Amino acid sequence: MHLPDLEIAKKREKSENKYVNLQENYQKVFNGKKYFLRTYGCQMNVHDSEAIRSYVETLGFIKTENIEEANLVVLNTCAIRENAKDKVMGFLGKCQYLKKNNPDFKIVLAGCMTEQPDVIEEIMQKHKYVDIVIGTHNLYELPKLLMQEYNKQVIEVYSQSDEVIEGMHFNRDSQYTAWVNIMYGCDKFCTYCIVPYTRGRERSRKLEDVVKEVEDLKAKGYKEVTLLGQNVNAYGRDIGEKFSHLLECVAKTKIERVRFVTSHPWNFTDEMIDVVAKYDNIMPYIHLPLQSGSNNILKRMNRRYTKEEYYALFKKMKEKIPNVAITTDIIVGFPGESDEDFNDTLEMVKKCAFDGAYTFIFSKREGTPAARMEDKTPMKVKEERLYKLNELVNYYSNQSNQKILNKVVPVLILGVSEKDENKLYGYTDTMKLVNVVGPKEIIGQIADVKIMEAKSFSLDGEYVKVAC
Ligand code: 5AD
Ligand code: SF4
Repeated sequence: MHLPDLEIAKKREKSENKYVNLQENYQKVFNGKKYFLRTYGCQMNVHDSEAIRSYVETLGFIKTENIEEANLVVLNTCAIRENAKDKVMGFLGKCQYLKKNNPDFKIVLAGCMTEQPDVIEEIMQKHKYVDIVIGTHNLYELPKLLMQEYNKQVIEVYSQSDEVIEGMHFNRDSQYTAWVNIMYGCDKFCTYCIVPYTRGRERSRKLEDVVKEVEDLKAKGYKEVTLLGQNVNAYGRDIGEKFSHLLECVAKTKIERVRFVTSHPWNFTDEMIDVVAKYDNIMPYIHLPLQSGSNNILKRMNRRYTKEEYYALFKKMKEKIPNVAITTDIIVGFPGESDEDFNDTLEMVKKCAFDGAYTFIFSKREGTPAARMEDKTPMKVKEERLYKLNELVNYYSNQSNQKILNKVVPVLILGVSEKDENKLYGYTDTMKLVNVVGPKEIIGQIADVKIMEAKSFSLDGEYVKVAC
């Protein structure tokens, strides 16, 4: 069987008609086949999976949640910590078993793991049954590779081309909130982190392209966009732009809610704080990873700030942005972290009283500078530190939630709660999860909700009225 290449993203704008014809041809081949997609890791991966869905559904594949009936499995992997890799390897075993009984069953490995040379080596040696390995930079080649793959049995490895691809299509998970990439990659090289190696150098999308995407989403009825980058404050350095300017232009589209993740404390400028404070539709919520409260460890992490500088920025944000919620990421057990260093972290958590925090035990990533640092702390001690840290972090997130008990707050209602079909769920402007008693008609709207109960990780509330 021979069909011409489907150059799905790059050339689509130039020849929309040709694309439609090709699409019909492909649909004849794949129609009715089912795909199973599993996503590991961060928001960037979740958003990449929306592109993967668009590609395979355009080809004619239909989504299934039951892997047993799938013809195609796509694993969108994460490399940030070792346990993410372990989960993928475990799942691959199951796929191998299914493939034995079904020769038509194809396995695609995508995402950050595929950008690690040692992992590729392992796949080539021990997991030869994997059909396609595709990197994070060229997902748009997936339809072409699938087409080739259904004709032959070779592992294809496609990787690393540092381009910004425009014209991508996404089958988005939500009708109301959307991720919007503003840049790719990271140049910060924190010593523990694999991201600069898996996602490559910082590349920014053009300001006009981002704004146009937000305008299109608004026209389609989306209420909220989250601007995505590994470090959004680095946006524009490669193209003579600034994140504060982009943020302002996005706010001016008048879409109801604008968010952004993730921010690095190192170059979070006063201009950025001013823009967040100035526009009502930029949500008062900032995720500002601290990583450690010890200056010694911050230096070894190559974080480029001291705890004093972090706190000065934190205070400025709290002073200038009314009701801002600030959450963070913290790593315990970084190589060389002493009891004293860990206590410094606890002290910073007390001082900042974070609205929430994601906490991790350091995971050694091959190829990063921290992997070569001496690490004498036993795992048991690291686990005890994590436990202690979590207790403190949970105390403050509970305190933060208690502050809005009995208050009426705006909540973007996203759907029916998975845990209780009689309740809806949504998020406050400060990114707190609320389970809401209310009519289904308010799904997709920003509603005033009275908070009736506050727990550590969520709130319960009752619908009052649609917010004006
Ligand atoms: N070990 C543990 N946590 C890590 N993170 C990144 N790399 C590692 C690692 N090697 C954490 C950081 C980052 C978050 C997304 O994951 O806290 O902010
Ligand atoms: Fe990793 Fe640091 Fe870049 Fe964040 S800023 S992605 S932690 S290297």
